[in-house]
Amino acid sequence: MAVDVILGLQWGDEGKGKIVDYLANKYDMVCRFQGGPNAGHTLVIDGKKHVLHTIPSGIFRREITNVIGNGVVIDPTTLVKEINGLNDAGILMSNLYVAKKAHLILPTHRYIDAASEAAKGKEKIGSTLKGIGPTYMDKTGRNGLRFGDIHSPNFLEKYNQLKEKHLGLLKLYPALDFNLEEEESKWMDSINHLRKLNCVDGEYFINNAIKEGKKVLAEGAQGSMLDIDFGTYPYVTSSNTVTSGVCNGLGIAPSNIGEVIGITKAYCTRVGGGPFPTELFNEEGEELRKIGHEFGATTGRPRRCGWIDIPQLLYTIMINGVTQIALTKLDVLNSFEEVKVAKQYAIDGSQTQQLPFDLCDEEVKPIYSSYKGWNEELDSSNDFNKLPDLAKSYIAELEILLGVKISMISTGPEREKLILN
Ligand code: GDP
Ligand code: IMO
Ligand code: MG
Repeated sequence: MAVDVILGLQWGDEGKGKIVDYLANKYDMVCRFQGGPNAGHTLVIDGKKHVLHTIPSGIFRREITNVIGNGVVIDPTTLVKEINGLNDAGILMSNLYVAKKAHLILPTHRYIDAASEAAKGKEKIGSTLKGIGPTYMDKTGRNGLRFGDIHSPNFLEKYNQLKEKHLGLLKLYPALDFNLEEEESKWMDSINHLRKLNCVDGEYFINNAIKEGKKVLAEGAQGSMLDIDFGTYPYVTSSNTVTSGVCNGLGIAPSNIGEVIGITKAYCTRVGGGPFPTELFNEEGEELRKIGHEFGATTGRPRRCGWIDIPQLLYTIMINGVTQIALTKLDVLNSFEEVKVAKQYAIDGSQTQQLPFDLCDEEVKPIYSSYKGWNEELDSSNDFNKLPDLAKSYIAELEILLGVKISMISTGPEREKLILN
């Protein structure tokens, strides 16, 4: 099968970027299939940290083609900033391709995002305020502007039409403080810059590569619990983050999909609002945050932290058809005397592994099993056999509980810190 998939099994920030970068040199093409600059994928290469928001995490492998797929939403200003940052680090964009059918985030989309969050009061989604929701709304509402439109002679006309619609909408919200003129001028400069990028019919581009026998890696953003259909609605993002999103987001047939590599942390985090059954409000949660440096790569917000949640993972493994798991941030648990795993939920006095219809409405009490922590640093040789016995048995227990092979174990942010199992 030509297309393998990497996606997050929790609420995002599982370490997708690191794993994509590590595996990218086994592929000819890396393609982002959904989301936008709400994502922050952190890579640490030769001691240098890079954060990618829109550009696929294969960009550091020079011989590989990187595609921003049609399912992605693009903020021209952020993308140009990202390109300039990469250029400064010596990474050129000759191997970056953008699908014409990817939608554009306008400055006014960001204002609508902010206005709609402000109007929600305490019920805020905790959006990254990058304009993601309003842009996908215009896409499904059939009003959107697409990347391919930037080459059209009536681009400005189309832009103004959509902007006017947004300004009308914004009148419905309490006054927002924004400087549209300044933002718009940066946005238009960025559009000029982006006209130089390789702009392709993504579906033909990728399918032709598949026909030629090329291997493709599809990179997800966010996590499965943030999926618009299957996540903790309404506390979700606005795209399909799960495997089925690969087909819509790149224009490939389901029969092309091979391995689905699901990424989970050895614990769990979430940023923004919404339910999180295993969230810790105690010192253990603080420790996870501190040791795991759990602060958002896009917004800098502290991430909420908790123990790994088996019912939640069984659900996302099912929805995605996960064939193998990459377990990240195992090292963060090194100093814990005790490591916990939520194996069941107690809901209304009975035990279940099935997620309720609406996690927001249910009093869910996770039932934990405790394991003795290994309490030592991990060996740096990337040899599975050299892991502490207690770490090995923690991994073996997770494999049994999840019913999927843990084929990769990440033991640090750096590219080379990865154990193949
Ligand atoms: P993504 O959005 O899924 O790509 O993940 P992020 O980059 O937002 O968050 C993952 C964070 O954990 C980043 O700061 C990574 O550098 C870091 N990271 C990834 N894998 C590991 C690991 O195995 N151990 C540790 N300590 N940090 C890791
Ligand atoms: P990566 O790809 C973690 C969360 C936001 C908010 C909700 C909706 O780095 O894993 P949005 O801006 O999409 O309207 O916000 O989704 N969120 C993420 N959380 N990692 C991400 O991306 C996220 N992208 C969005 O915090 O709760
Ligand atoms: Mg992230």
